[in-house]
Amino acid sequence: MTADPLTLDDFTFVAAFVHDRAAIVLDASKEYLVQARLRPLVRQFECDSIHALIACLRERPTRELEQAVVEALTTNETHFFRDTAFYEVLRDGVLPRLIAARRASRRLTMWCAACSSGQEPYSVLMLIHEHFPEILGWNFKFIVSDISQEMLERTRDGRYTQHETNRGLPAQLLTKYLDRDGIKWQMKPNFRKLLDVREVNLAKAWAPMPPIDIVFMRNVLIYFGVDTKREILARVGKVMSPDGLLFLGGSETLFGIDDTFRRSEFGKASCYGLAKVPVSP
Ligand SMILES: C[S@@+](CC[C@H](N)C(=O)[O-])C[C@H]1O[C@@H](n2cnc3c(N)ncnc32)[C@H](O)[C@@H]1O
Repeated sequence: MTADPLTLDDFTFVAAFVHDRAAIVLDASKEYLVQARLRPLVRQFECDSIHALIACLRERPTRELEQAVVEALTTNETHFFRDTAFYEVLRDGVLPRLIAARRASRRLTMWCAACSSGQEPYSVLMLIHEHFPEILGWNFKFIVSDISQEMLERTRDGRYTQHETNRGLPAQLLTKYLDRDGIKWQMKPNFRKLLDVREVNLAKAWAPMPPIDIVFMRNVLIYFGVDTKREILARVGKVMSPDGLLFLGGSETLFGIDDTFRRSEFGKASCYGLAKVPVSP
């Protein structure tokens, strides 16, 4: 395998391809990242160089190669209980309020829209099981999605290395909710079954969804341009329940981007409700 550098032309092609497929913006500063992420695919697709791999993507693309390039250029960084303020707001403000509002209907639907390898939805489930177990006996749906098939498979499997569990998962929750599996740990089957894991590319049309009470869209909008963020947020507004809430990552804000949402009174985490409750058709 030749570790040949990426030409400007190749970089421009890959950046346009990934933007078209996933809306991910790769500016010139990401040239090194693209090169590092594509290098393993050179061997996997039996090419001689990154240039040859990209020529193949241009001239005789297969679905497998296209998917592999998109997946290689997603950033899947995540860990258990990422951003303490988010979990505190969920536990102390958002869930108690929604539970009170839904006690009669006994329905609650949540959507984790960029789940990566699953640590985020499993952390939310552990928090619910610890503090609000009654919801799990309701008509409770937890849709969990990502663009990456590899990440969806990892989420379904719920298997984590010791290093991954060391990142954010308290020891008492580890032994309570995961089983040892050789050198790894796996989420217990009854927990894995609670997730409805599906592919959703946020940048393309979404399959119909039920009204969502809480949308977790954390640390993903940062990869998109402003117009894409606006389009996605407008669609989130349409799938959310009138009193539903949207969570973004700790460093993300909708300020100056979107007026569909207003920052909620819960404060410490980036949590948003609909600015205007939509009129029913
Ligand atoms: C940095 S991770 C965030 C994981 C988790 N939400 C968290 O906050 O820890 C970003 C995830 O967004 C996904 N992603 C990137 N572009 C996407 C798109 N167009 N549609 C859906 N998911 C996408 C990636 O595959 C990746 O798993």
